[in-house]
Amino acid sequence: MLLLVGSLLLFTFVVYLRRTHPEPHMDWGDLDLTSIVIPDEFHWGVATAAHQIEGGLRNNWTVFESSNEMEQSGQACDHWNLWKQDFQLISDLGLSTYRFSIEWSRLEPEQGVWEEGPLQEYSRMVDDLLSKGIRPMITLHHFSHPAWWEEKGGFSKAENIPEFVNYCEKVHNALSDRVSIWCTINEPVVFSSMGYALGQFPPGKRSIRLCISVMKNMMRAHARVYNLLKSKNPNSSIGMAKNVTLFDPTNRWSPIDWAASRLLDWIWNGAWKRAILKGRMFGSRIEGARSSLDFIGLNYYTHFITGLFVPTATKDLDFQRREHEIETDFGYPMYAEGFRRAIEYASGFGVPIEVTENGVADASDSLRPEHLMRHIWILSEAIKDGYDVKSFHYWSLMDNFEWAEGYSMRFGLYEVNYGNQTRSLRQSGEIYRDLIESQVKR
Ligand code: GAL
Repeated sequence: MLLLVGSLLLFTFVVYLRRTHPEPHMDWGDLDLTSIVIPDEFHWGVATAAHQIEGGLRNNWTVFESSNEMEQSGQACDHWNLWKQDFQLISDLGLSTYRFSIEWSRLEPEQGVWEEGPLQEYSRMVDDLLSKGIRPMITLHHFSHPAWWEEKGGFSKAENIPEFVNYCEKVHNALSDRVSIWCTINEPVVFSSMGYALGQFPPGKRSIRLCISVMKNMMRAHARVYNLLKSKNPNSSIGMAKNVTLFDPTNRWSPIDWAASRLLDWIWNGAWKRAILKGRMFGSRIEGARSSLDFIGLNYYTHFITGLFVPTATKDLDFQRREHEIETDFGYPMYAEGFRRAIEYASGFGVPIEVTENGVADASDSLRPEHLMRHIWILSEAIKDGYDVKSFHYWSLMDNFEWAEGYSMRFGLYEVNYGNQTRSLRQSGEIYRDLIESQVKR
């Protein structure tokens, strides 16, 4: 009898979850993806990150790359020397916003030793973007930091946070007269889980306990930076870039698959929203975290189909796909429908949304045009339905160093020939350019 009642309750709960967490799939063939309407003031752009494009760095990543016999980032796209021509490429696409990150290790290569030259170079970059009518959006931490800070334990130790805050303050002091929009930290959940639970990012640790404490420290660091920079310049708009991955149960009738997917969602997505809305994360109070956002940066790529087997290393990841879903070069499926769900989730932070990343690894550029059109169509529908989305940054301007995957994953609107550092616009780049031209009123 007890078993029967228990099974009935469980069944009812699964029915409830199926209703409250739908996984829509659309018949894309029936839609006219070119019928999009985007407000005039919307910002179209691209995104990059320092370690992935600049080249010639020495930081937590380069140390990790050489000690793990991984592909070396090396000269990357040599962007540190070629940024002027790269900014012209952004301008050629008709874009009005560019998200990039500052490399802390250039500014403070040794603890307390500050180099003025690189900060002046970043300042010249800002001027050049503004002269082209492009809004600079700066990310202060995009997965990389100085090797000396890593040696001290980086984000795993709360006592290291002041050094990060100090660096952020220096950059903000120098650039906030011209840069109005800032991301404190890029994808803290990816950084902490890949670096401290799955061991695929520096420092290559594998401990859930450590991972949770890094998450909390990253949230503390974000809150400290947010509150300090706002007090210095209230005109700065400050947010963080949140990777929103959706977790869908493999079998939508399986209570076990639901349990796995809800648990992962709770950690990956829920914890960050609770920190902003309630000022608490995993049972700890995070000082200053409540309402520490002027916008939420949304990075959306895919959904993760989840079952009992929760991988403990990315190399074990066997990305699952629904039967009809198209596989990207990364192995995970293209799931544009999820972009709408990610926008809905992001709107729950109660601040405007800036899409800080969306794109696809597709070396042959055979999928990217469709990927781009589907996501932009979803964006247009969401805006039509009242979601407050201000910008869209395509990941990425050009092919670059894709972290643990090295140079094998190609995300660029421009293809990069790493032999001679030439960039060539892909067909998808032309599509993006033409689409923007058709939307922007002159
Ligand atoms: C994001 C990350 C980017 C880029 C992108 C493509 O998680 O912020 O730096 O690597 O993924 O996979």
